[in-house]
Amino acid sequence: MIRKKIVIASTLAAAVVALAGCAASGTPQDVQALADQTFKASFLPGKGQDLTRLEQDQTQIDCSVSKAAPSETLAETIKARVAKSIVYPADGKLMGDWKAGAKVFNDGFAYRIGSFIPSKPDAVRAGNCYACHQGEAKEAAYGNMGSSLQHWGKIRGQSEPIVKYTYEKIYNAKAFNACSAMPRLGHNQILSPKHISDLVAYLVSPDSPLNK
Ligand code: HEC
Repeated sequence: MIRKKIVIASTLAAAVVALAGCAASGTPQDVQALADQTFKASFLPGKGQDLTRLEQDQTQIDCSVSKAAPSETLAETIKARVAKSIVYPADGKLMGDWKAGAKVFNDGFAYRIGSFIPSKPDAVRAGNCYACHQGEAKEAAYGNMGSSLQHWGKIRGQSEPIVKYTYEKIYNAKAFNACSAMPRLGHNQILSPKHISDLVAYLVSPDSPLNK
């Protein structure tokens, strides 16, 4: 058993090294073939996981090929493509319930394996925002890959453009920053339009503890 674990660990380590190598010199097809060969074959086979997320879409291919530094023209193409794909809540309300939004912001479930099963739309798939952003002052453990979101609405107000930007940024950050490293939480159905509108309220509303 221990031996098997070591073999798996070293196979994965080799795959990561090989993937890093391919990202530098291989074509997107090389990277895909390697992902198919290693992850698809060995990663929880037969457990009903949906592994289609290992297949790069055009935006990911564009960002891989340009090493996340697209030309101005390519960046505009990506942003226009992404902007067209944003889905809004059916009732058109981009500001939902900040209390529900606080839960989504705090919950670390996001991309956890097992949460990403499109046939289970009700599975919890929260935002894990603290992994990368500072939020409420009382929360000491937060990542800093993204900027602090503390006092988001207090600083920016609640105008229509701010509400719209906040919604669209969370839905798919690449609408504004073509090769953003922020996960595409709406696009990838980790969060529903309702979840996102609740997050917008949590970020923007003056009643939200984030703005106290
Ligand atoms: C894996 C890290 C990561 C996670 C998780 C993440 N973000 Fe981000 N986010 C970033 C990065 C990096 C940026 C800055 C780059 C950019 O603008 O695309 C950013 C930018 C933003 C911005 C725009 C900030 C500005 O000044 O314009 C907002 C709003 C935001 N994130 C909200 C969220 C919310 C809400 C969540 C949880 C649902 C979340 N993010 C989860 C990495 C992350």
